Amino acid sequence: MTQHQRLLIIDFGSQVTQLIARRLRELNVYCEIHPYQNVTDAFLADFAPKAIIFSGGPDSVTREGSPRPPKSAFTLGVPILGICYGQQVMMQELGGLVESGHGTAEFGRAFVTPTGTNLAILDGWFSEGREQVWMSHGDHVSRIAPGFEVFGTSPGAPFAITADLKRNFFAVQFHPEVHHTPRGAKLYENFIRLAGFTGDWTMASYKDDAIAKIREQVGDKRVICGLSGGVDSSVAAVLIHEAIGDQLTCVFVDHGLMRQGEAGEVVSMFRDNYNIPLIAADESELFLGELEGVTDPEVKRKTIGRLFIDVFQKYADEIEGAEFLAQGTLYPDVIESVSFSGGPSVTIKSHHNVGGLPEKMGLKLVEPLRELFKDEVRALGRELGLPEKFIGRHPFPGPGLAIRCPGEITREKLEILRQADAVYIDQIRKHGLYDEIWQAFVAILPVRTVGVMGDGRTYDYACALRAVTSVDGMTADYYPFTHEFLGETATRIINEVKGINRVTYDITSKPPGTIEWE
Ligand code: XMP
Repeated sequence: MTQHQRLLIIDFGSQVTQLIARRLRELNVYCEIHPYQNVTDAFLADFAPKAIIFSGGPDSVTREGSPRPPKSAFTLGVPILGICYGQQVMMQELGGLVESGHGTAEFGRAFVTPTGTNLAILDGWFSEGREQVWMSHGDHVSRIAPGFEVFGTSPGAPFAITADLKRNFFAVQFHPEVHHTPRGAKLYENFIRLAGFTGDWTMASYKDDAIAKIREQVGDKRVICGLSGGVDSSVAAVLIHEAIGDQLTCVFVDHGLMRQGEAGEVVSMFRDNYNIPLIAADESELFLGELEGVTDPEVKRKTIGRLFIDVFQKYADEIEGAEFLAQGTLYPDVIESVSFSGGPSVTIKSHHNVGGLPEKMGLKLVEPLRELFKDEVRALGRELGLPEKFIGRHPFPGPGLAIRCPGEITREKLEILRQADAVYIDQIRKHGLYDEIWQAFVAILPVRTVGVMGDGRTYDYACALRAVTSVDGMTADYYPFTHEFLGETATRIINEVKGINRVTYDITSKPPGTIEWE
């Protein structure tokens, strides 16, 4: 099996740590993010990174007990790049000084100008004399560690870019991973080139590795795979089928929270395209029954997660030799789940395919996509020859319409939501916008509003349209529909869907919003 060159990102809790991983993956570098608490000396030795990045973080290195990397990181002999908090912790650990207090904070756009001789990782920088960067720090380095030189400075950060060229340690006060540092990607590219990465992380090699890994993990046992019709589970199922053939049985659970006509579509799409054994289970009574009266988003998610596992377990019991449950868990889910076990970043939502798993489960997990971001899953799907109609589908969350129905979920609301959503998606397709939009859906709001239709008063639900552009769902912008499109869509929904008399358009980006409403 190929062993990829590996880069380790030690996470000190920045909200943008995942963007570092994105930038590196785009450069065909395999990297993993691990919270600093888990990175012990033994872990480091075992992981054997070719380079290390220290992320930013919300803490202050001047606080006693604040996060630190293991000391052995500095003696492994591999290049290290420290970003923001990562820069400060590197300085502190190597004998420099970091101070906090009045006048040390700097947030937002800043300009760095070069000082000293040229530095290889700044190749392609400073062609215009200065470089725009994004700063976000409360403390600042007031004395650099022995062995370091200054290569860039900004008004608020005299040591904006420093390096110890002997040891290949680099430290920047700003965030090169965010798009407000326009040439930040170049800095990563130079860093990984200098560290000797050859860009060996490709989808073709990933596919072969993944197939070998699945065969090794599963042996001659049987696997059941939860199929949702979404890209992730479809790609996971086809990949596993390629690895172990008929040892795989797919289970499609209709939880009563699918979109209009979706359950039938998923089943026929899979049966027509693939010869994979498929059980279609209508469990809508069970799910909707248990969700009755539940309004809290986390309780909804956990309930659905728990029921999914119960149902899978039930079908697995009927399949002789089934010992494994396959899931289309993605890397962002894995990283987010880290915070459940005390990682430094704040938990935003429990994704059902991670957060809802019970402690004790009879089935072992097969998660062949857990190292991938969404756009990489699509690339893998193409590598596996999946039809474009699978690959191009907008993502649909495991908890389904439950998280697009804030407040209590009722069958009446679900039916109204399905109809409105179908009209909306039809509009988007008719205007040729489906492929331009990363994800679009309707949320039904838990309020009724007064309207007038014909000569009569109406008192019906309001709904919100959502459409976003994104690369991987981690950040998103709302889609700039024309007013004509929005007006036409609102008219169609109100005319065609009984139960809705008001349509709004959600123009929140992520962050600060999330894509789904719950
Ligand atoms: P948020 O709402 O967190 O969503 O901005 C980001 C992306 O993830 C999808 N999503 C989920 N997918 N299980 C899934 O499989 C989940 O529990 C889940 N929650 C959100 C969401 O649709 C969007 O594409």
